[in-house]
Parts: sequence; C-alpha cells; structure tokens
Amino acid sequence: MTIKIGMVGTGGFSKKHADILTGMNHVRVVAVCATSEEKAKQFAKQYNGMRGYCDFYEMLNNETLDGVYLCVPPMAHGEMELALVERGIPFFTEKPLGITTAVPKKVVEALGKVPVVTAVGYHFRYLESIQHLKRLLKDHTVGMVTGRWMGTMPEVSWWRNQALSGGQLNEQATHIADVLRYLLGECEEVQAYEAQRVMNRRKENVTVADVGTVNIRFTSGVIANIVNTCVLPEELADVGFTIYTDSAVINWTPEALTIKTATTDQVIVDQQDPYQQEDAIFVRAIQSGSDKQILSTYQDAYNTQRLTEAARVSVEENNSICLND
Ligand SMILES: NC(=O)c1ccc[n+]([C@@H]2O[C@H](COP(=O)([O-])OP(=O)(O)OC[C@H]3O[C@@H](n4cnc5c(N)ncnc54)[C@H](O)[C@@H]3O)[C@@H](O)[C@H]2O)c1
Repeated sequence: MTIKIGMVGTGGFSKKHADILTGMNHVRVVAVCATSEEKAKQFAKQYNGMRGYCDFYEMLNNETLDGVYLCVPPMAHGEMELALVERGIPFFTEKPLGITTAVPKKVVEALGKVPVVTAVGYHFRYLESIQHLKRLLKDHTVGMVTGRWMGTMPEVSWWRNQALSGGQLNEQATHIADVLRYLLGECEEVQAYEAQRVMNRRKENVTVADVGTVNIRFTSGVIANIVNTCVLPEELADVGFTIYTDSAVINWTPEALTIKTATTDQVIVDQQDPYQQEDAIFVRAIQSGSDKQILSTYQDAYNTQRLTEAARVSVEENNSICLND
C-alpha cells in the first residue's frame, strides 16, 4: 500500500522531509499546504504529482492522507494538530511544539481521548551515538552535564521575534534539553537567565535574548547547565554537551561522540542520517498503527516543552521554577 503524505509549510524543513519521503518506496507526498497559492505552486512543482493548497482544511477534505507533516514555525502550531487528532490522521511535527505549553497541553489532552500516531522532529535521539550513550550510561553514575547551543541568528524573520519563536532555547537549544531528558530522565527544577547583548543593536526587530543560561536539577539528582547564544559568526558555531561521570568525560557533538577514561579514548562517528531514520520510522508507524519505535512522540516532547517553558518563566519571574508543582 502506498502511504500518502500531506506537507504543511514550504520552508527549509518541508523540503528536507519531502526530499527524504519522496525517496522512499511506497511513499508519496501528494499535497502541500502553504501560506499563499504562489508558494504552494512553487513548492509542489518540485515533486511529481504534488497538489498545492493554501487552506489546510481544503487539503484535508480533498485528499485521503495517511499522514501529515507540520513543518511550520512555533506560532503556527495548535489548530492543525487538534484537527488531525479529531480526524485520526497520524502526524509528524517539527520541534518545538509551540511557544509555550498552553497549546501543546490541549493537543496532549486530545491525544489522551483519541490516540493517534505522532512523532516530533527531535532527531538527535535517532543517532547511533545517542543510542550508544544511552546504553553506556547504565554503567556510569552521572555527576553533571554542561550543554551548549552556540551559534548564529537564523535569517528568517519570525525567529528573532520572541512572540513568534519563543526565543533560542525554545527554538534551538530545545534539542539539547530534549536529548538530556532522553538520556537522564525527567527534571524537577529550572533556573534561567537571559540577556540581549548584541543582536538587537545590530539587526532590526530583534526581541529575542541573544545569550542565555539555564540550570536544571534532574529527578535523579544530576545537575546540568545549558548555555545558548546566537551572537556568533557561523564559522564559530558549537553545539553539544559534556557529561562528567564517576569514570569518564563524555563529549558529544552532532558529528562525534568522544569517551575519555583515565586509560582509554574512544571516538564514535555517526554514519546514518537521523532525519532519514525518524522519517522511515514514522512511515512504518503509520503502516503498523503502533508508535512503539518512535523515539519522540508528541506526549514525550510535551515534557521538553514544559522544561523550556519553565526556563522562560524563571527569566520572567527571576526565580527558580519547580516542574512538579
Ligand atoms: N529538527 C531540525 O533539525 C530542524 C531544523 C530546522 C528547522 N526545524 C524546525 O522546523 C520548523 C520550520 O522551520 P523552517 O526552517 O522550515 O522555517 P521556514 O521559515 O524556512 O519555513 C516555515 C514555513 O512555514 C510556513 N507557514 C507558517 N505558518 C503556516 C501555516 N499556518 N500554514 C502553512 N504554512 C505555514 C511559512 O510560510 C514557511 O513556508 C521550525 O519549527 C524549526 O524549528 C527543525
């Protein structure tokens, strides 16, 4: 049976997933929904037989879709997810789930009543290096972790607007927050600081902070810190985390995992594309109707959203925030 996918959004990540999906056997991306007819037409003409829409409901009503990809910015989430749950259509959504937890909470409640296969684009979880680390950490006592998303400001206009993107922790460093949750379990307390240092003076309409730091206390007792900045030139970007255990210093970046002990030094370089993996597993989940192989479901990603939201509230209230309250 051919799996028919509908795509929402016509930006960089819609193309990324559409290219992967159209390369799979028995999968067709049959429709795209854009914010204008022109954009829909431009996107659709890159793919054989794809139809363009600029109304989400028209796409759902005209097409028989087995799954939908939501590759839209944080402010555009909510209504579409709720409509898909109501119709029982599996969906893959890019991270983050929204700007706060308000909209995702409603989606989680809806999924509690009508279970639907979902997946979220926290692709680091699918890396072999992260899978290796998850197994390895069973034999270590983790003391603490330092994580970082040090980069440059994306050019798309919505990203620099706090009300549309939720800021860099919500938009990018969320990947580090999520993968630490995946490896270390849930968090119970968060305390964060943010500031505007450079970008609001250099570029127009910048309302996001350009430096941030968040301290996290995990339920296990592990403590972590994640720092982020978007003031750097692209060439200086640095993303990853370092785990300090009772017997090793483990440094992870999207390129490689390095495990140093007192006597050994091991490097693991990922060979597989995690985006291919997450898309292939989502398609298989549609076919089987089971989300067991999906490493980031909507319900799981909701807890990452709770974590990043707690950091935002901590900044606003100048206080540490307990997640269990
Ligand atoms: N997982 C990853 O590694 C990764 C990487 C890049 C981007 N992303 C995520 O993907 C999402 C999209 O990012 P992007 O880089 O493609 O952004 P983009 O700005 O290039 O594209 C966003 C697209 O969404 C469209 N859009 C906005 N609201 C819409 C709506 N209601 N209906 C239909 N289309 C709508 C815009 O017109 C645009 O085409 C973001 O949340 C981003 O964080 C994830």
